Amino acid sequence: MVIIQSIREMKRFVRREKQKGNTLGFVPTMGSLHKGHMSLVNRAVEENDVTIMSIFVNPLQFGPGEDFDQYPRDFEKDEQTARKAGVDVIFYPSTEEMYPREPAVTISVDKRTDVLCGKSRPGHFDGVATVLTKLFHITMPDRVYFGEKDAQQIAVVESLIQDFNFPVELVACPTVRESDGLAKSSRNIYLTGDERREASALHESLQKGAELYQDGEQSTKRIRERVLAVLNDRLTRAEIEYVEVLTYPDLKAVEQCNGRMIIALAVHFGAARLIDNMILGEETQSISSGISHHLLSEVN
Ligand code: PAJ
Repeated sequence: MVIIQSIREMKRFVRREKQKGNTLGFVPTMGSLHKGHMSLVNRAVEENDVTIMSIFVNPLQFGPGEDFDQYPRDFEKDEQTARKAGVDVIFYPSTEEMYPREPAVTISVDKRTDVLCGKSRPGHFDGVATVLTKLFHITMPDRVYFGEKDAQQIAVVESLIQDFNFPVELVACPTVRESDGLAKSSRNIYLTGDERREASALHESLQKGAELYQDGEQSTKRIRERVLAVLNDRLTRAEIEYVEVLTYPDLKAVEQCNGRMIIALAVHFGAARLIDNMILGEETQSISSGISHHLLSEVN
């Protein structure tokens, strides 16, 4: 496994691999690797000749007062984890390497961002889309891997790829969870013991919402109320930011479930902001850019 810190060297590596006819899988991350990230790596290793992982805590996607400075960073540990999982290259640029000056051009995401995390984190998805545009140009991957835990991010990246004709296939991978259902996240380390115990309510509430849907409930309002009822019953130490039931991946509010839907929530335990979601609905036609069928599965 090699570690590359310069954009020039990364491009040179990519050019060489392409000349050899090798396919490239790319897993963009902000480090602090856990089993969720590694599930994306496993899939990339399976499907490509070469797997590139980027580790870059992107300042552009953090708002003022968010956890950019506190965001957990442990490169040595990440390096070992990545090596064991079969990553071929870690692209690990500095902030100066990625943003040598204040960017004159950034990407502005106009759709799919007025709800969920986009609503409470203005500019967040502009930052994500901008850094991914740079990373796609630097690594030129055949396939790029994202986790369904960040379902709105997938919806935004799917638009980015389509609207800007990036020659890359987006592969969406299922959320990896702890044994009690809590979605693995780099931010779980912020939780105290009591908060960690309560946090299992997030997945449980989504399951109850999904059960109601499976029993035939079509009203998004009633599904949302069921999820909220479980959260309100179980959470004593957390503040609920949102619970929404929307179409997926367009993220539109509708009264009755119609095709693929998402239940998504965000909850704050002190400084820790946790998100989770569940996709509901029939397996309909694939999204044209080729989001993997994992994303289209029934209640996951
Ligand atoms: P980060 O939060 O490090 O996540 C990197 C990738 O890991 C994302 O695609 C995310 O959805 C996936 N992931 C995180 N937890 C997961 C889990 N429990 N199960 C499955 N996949 C999981 O998302 C980002 O970084 C950044 O926004 C980035 C795309 C790198 C742009 O800066």
